[in-house]
This record gives sequence, C-alpha cells and structure tokens, in this order.
Amino acid sequence: MAKLPFTVEEKHLNTGLRGFPVGTVWTSKVDPQKGVSYVGYPIQELVELSSEEVIYLLLYKKLPSEEEKASFSQELVERSKVSEEVLDLLSALPARAHPMTWLQCGIQYLGIDRCEDYLEDGLNLISRISEVVAAIFRLRAGWGDPIPSKPDLGYVENFVHMLGVPQSHPHLMDVLKAFHILHLDHGGGNLSTFTGKAVASGLADMYTSLSAAMGGLSGPRHGRANQDCLRFVQEIGSPEEGHIRSVIERKLANKELIYGFGHAVLRAEDPRAAVQYELAERYFADDRNVQIVLQLRRIVPSILGKIEKIANPYPNVDAVSGSLLHAAGLRDPEYYTVLFGWSRVVGIVAQIIDERLYFRGGKGVPIYRCLYLAENQPERHLERG
Ligand code: MLT
Repeated sequence: MAKLPFTVEEKHLNTGLRGFPVGTVWTSKVDPQKGVSYVGYPIQELVELSSEEVIYLLLYKKLPSEEEKASFSQELVERSKVSEEVLDLLSALPARAHPMTWLQCGIQYLGIDRCEDYLEDGLNLISRISEVVAAIFRLRAGWGDPIPSKPDLGYVENFVHMLGVPQSHPHLMDVLKAFHILHLDHGGGNLSTFTGKAVASGLADMYTSLSAAMGGLSGPRHGRANQDCLRFVQEIGSPEEGHIRSVIERKLANKELIYGFGHAVLRAEDPRAAVQYELAERYFADDRNVQIVLQLRRIVPSILGKIEKIANPYPNVDAVSGSLLHAAGLRDPEYYTVLFGWSRVVGIVAQIIDERLYFRGGKGVPIYRCLYLAENQPERHLERG
C-alpha cells in the first residue's frame, strides 16, 4: 500500500491525479519494478491458466478448485446468450463509427435487459461480451453475419470460433489466450477502470458504467495506444539497426512520441510485454513487424535511458501487442482497442462489484466527489440598473 498520509502540494494539482492514493483495490497490484500481479499472482505465471480460471480469480480472489472451475465455466456458458435484438441493433450501426463506439453501444444494448444487480449484471456482461465483440468484427469489417455462439468450446475458444477470422494464423488462439489474460486488469487507477468505478459510484448500472469505462479506454493515451503502436512500427518499416536508430533520433529531435515505451507507474519492462515478445519470437519470427518490435525492444531503452526526464525507457504492453495480433491474422489495427476492452471488462466489473457490494463493510464507496480548487474566479456580481 502507498505510504499515508499523502500531502497534497501545489505541484500535484492538474496532474491527472498521478500517484494520488484515492482508494484500495483487491483484484490486482502494479509494482513499478515487477509489473502487475492479480490477487498476488505474477501475470507471467497466470498466462499458463485458462481465462475462466483467471476471471474466477479476479472475481472471487482465489484460484478455483477443479470443481469450482467446472461449475464456474458452466455458469458462464449458461449466462452467455446474447439476444437477437442486440445483434440487430449492432448491425444498424454505420461502419464509419470507430469499433470502440460500436463496443460502447453494444454494452449499452446488452444493458437493456439488465437486472439492476451488480453481481448478476457483471457476470452476464462477462459471459456475453465475447459474442458482442465478435459480432462487431464481423458486421463492421464485412466478414459476414455473426457466427452462432458455441459457449461449450470454452471462453477464448468460442470467441475465436465466433470471430471466424478470414485467413487466420494457426497460432491465433495462443495469441488471443495470452492477450486476454494479460489485459484483464491493471490496478485500480488506470483511466478506464477509474472511470467505470466513478460512474458506478453514482449508482449507474453495470452496463452504463462499463460503456463509460470503454470511452476512457478508447483514447490514444490509454487503450488505443496498441492501434497507434502498430502504425508506428509499420511506418518504421525495417528492422535494420542503423535505420531504427536514425528514425528514433529523428523523432526525438522533432519531439514526436516513441509509441509503446514508458508508463505512468512502471519503471521497468512491463511483464505483459515480455510475455508477448516471447510469443512473437516463438511463433512469428519471420514477420516483418515482429522483427521491428524485437529490435525496438533491444535498441530504444538505451536511447531513451539517456534522456533525464524520461523515468521509464522500457516497453509497455502496447509495444508488441498490435504486431502480434497482426501477425496472427487480425490485420486491421482499428479493432485492437476493442480486444483490449473485451478483456478489460472483466477487471472493471470485478472492481465495481468490490466497490459497490463489499467495501466499507458492505456499504460501498460513496459517490466520487473530489475537490477542484477554483482558480481565476474572484467574486463578481452583475451590474444592474
Ligand atoms: C493499463 O493496462 O490500463 C495501462 O497499462 C494503463 C495504466 O495502467 O494506467
């Protein structure tokens, strides 16, 4: 836990609450050196498990026994049916809207049939989000009608089945399995999670809170970084070391962003990036983008590390995820943030359930209402008469 009390000084104002302790979180912890762990388990160990087991961990704060795992998986299956109405509503959306807009709409549409119970709605949302995300891919990209769900296949397996990616790579499943677990949660203060909890604190329902959270995720400084990162890698175009060094130096001289490096909390390489680099090397060593991201991993930290004001020159989760998804057959980067959302919904739901139902001895966290200090507003009055 952060050291308390925390003295707020003027230098802390207007910094996006950076580093402010505002609450506690039970699902995960982001250690600046070791990266994220879920309920104490380092992320790199959890990628060995099934998504169902890790979802259970985030919701119930312990790994399931074999029996619990089977009954929880069955519960997700039973809750998973998305109504035709939701798919029809989605199919009426225009392709020019970004997939994240579709995701926000899809989550709101699912909420038409809500139960006004955070736990029930949260479990239903986790069970149904895969079908919505797969339908977004298919309808918006023009791949065809949504593919009927086969939830018995397993959480990620069914998602891959419903995506029906044209020309998918044989390792798409391995990539999405890892991607899903790696993106499920990242502490309590990342923007989308904070937003979702803030909206739920006004007692908005789970779906509205999650749709708002996905709005937070959609920005290029948060979840859309994976989309922008792939574009950055493609623009570099070659893994040749001299070329990469000169592109990075030029970008730094022009004060342009080096995508995929640095993080608000981390001060070492993000273990979520490390897991993905390993997959990239194992399955896609011949892929041009993968070769570039591996070189960037080798070269960039030493360049950024020489710049005094850069606190963390190391790669984060977005440095490699786009290139990995692309190599696995998901070619259009516009959809990458939706995949981030497909996964992150779980952590946000779990944290909202904790804040609404269990914190403060079951009373829940009150409505978020932080203090903004009025500035440049001397008392004034209308001149009358
Ligand atoms: C995340 O996974 O949410 C990102 O790394 C951003 C963050 O932790 O603030």
